Amino acid sequence: ENSVGIIGVGYYVPEKILTNFDLEKMVDTNDEWIVDRTGIRERRIAEDDVPTSQLAIKAAQNAIDNAGIKAEELDLIIVATLTSDRTIPSTACILQDKLGATHAAAFDLSAACSGFVYAMSVGTQFIKTGVYKKVLVVAAETLSKYINWKDRNTCVLFGDGAGAAVLGQVDDGYGILGIDLGSDGAGAECLDIPASGSLHPASLETIASNMHYIHMNGSEVFKFAIKVMGSTVLKSLERSGLTKDQIDCLIPHQANIRIIQSAAKRLHLPMEKVVVNVAQYGNTSAASIPIALAEAVQAKRFKKGDVIAIAGFGAGLTWASCIMKW
Ligand code: ACO
Repeated sequence: ENSVGIIGVGYYVPEKILTNFDLEKMVDTNDEWIVDRTGIRERRIAEDDVPTSQLAIKAAQNAIDNAGIKAEELDLIIVATLTSDRTIPSTACILQDKLGATHAAAFDLSAACSGFVYAMSVGTQFIKTGVYKKVLVVAAETLSKYINWKDRNTCVLFGDGAGAAVLGQVDDGYGILGIDLGSDGAGAECLDIPASGSLHPASLETIASNMHYIHMNGSEVFKFAIKVMGSTVLKSLERSGLTKDQIDCLIPHQANIRIIQSAAKRLHLPMEKVVVNVAQYGNTSAASIPIALAEAVQAKRFKKGDVIAIAGFGAGLTWASCIMKW
């Protein structure tokens, strides 16, 4: 079995910033409530004519450059997204063409905010078994296009962005050591975009009743997140043959600072060991972990041999975590 790890990372966020103070002018909310309840101060918003693939391409190109490879070397591209450009083709196919990844297979993966870790786990299997050598995993979202800007329960939480990682063979004993994936479809109603799929195809009625927007039961998702974030990391650790005191850095899904703090507490980690950027970007769904990862790499937050845990949760409901030796 080959050892598989991340050999390059990259991210991209749109330039346009929407602050809590901007939101105060749009809905009945205020900076203090948002900061206090979520930790978010601002988020990035893609322009109207910018689809998810445009963010994805920039993040992917940065990851490819960071890995020091050429796009033609990629064997597979997996894009984790809940905001694909179109229902078909996949956003991964758009990327495959635009990047010039002439030898790569490509598909999208649907696991909402857990998507990046799910996609990493899929890519890892192909390299472990020797089928492929280089896999590009991209998580990209333009959630702003699915937000009801009149609903203060959701519009303050989300932002746009993209992150990417190139997976390849690494030295024995390094790279991905343990993975945990999970799902609980009984929680499907907690967080969804009701219409535009085959259940409720687009109609004047679905538009009039706001069914193309994100709907969320915030407190249910909150309780679920608090429960799974610690337990999934403990499972990945067990599969890695490691214990929680060996974690050097935790990169959690950036949905809410209180969920992040609770996960850190459960794992007995001081906040210095936790990567947090929720204040700047809000919840960018699947993109949040790879954006935080790429920023941490850029800031030289870890050194070779460090044990890194990444963990996410999201619609589905789904959760996923992974332990890596850097
Ligand atoms: N500004 C002011 N007040 C607000 C706002 C706002 N933006 N949003 C909600 N409120 C009000 C509500 O109307 C409610 O008022 P009421 O009690 O009079 O009805 C009250 O605030 C609710 O307050 P709390 O119960 O204290 O809110 P809570 O602490 O649960 O925080 C939050 C709400 C931030 C949504 C939290 O539940 C949360 O973060 N949940 C998880 C959400 C999440 O992570 N979703 C993404 C999952 S990932 C994915 O797959 C996309």
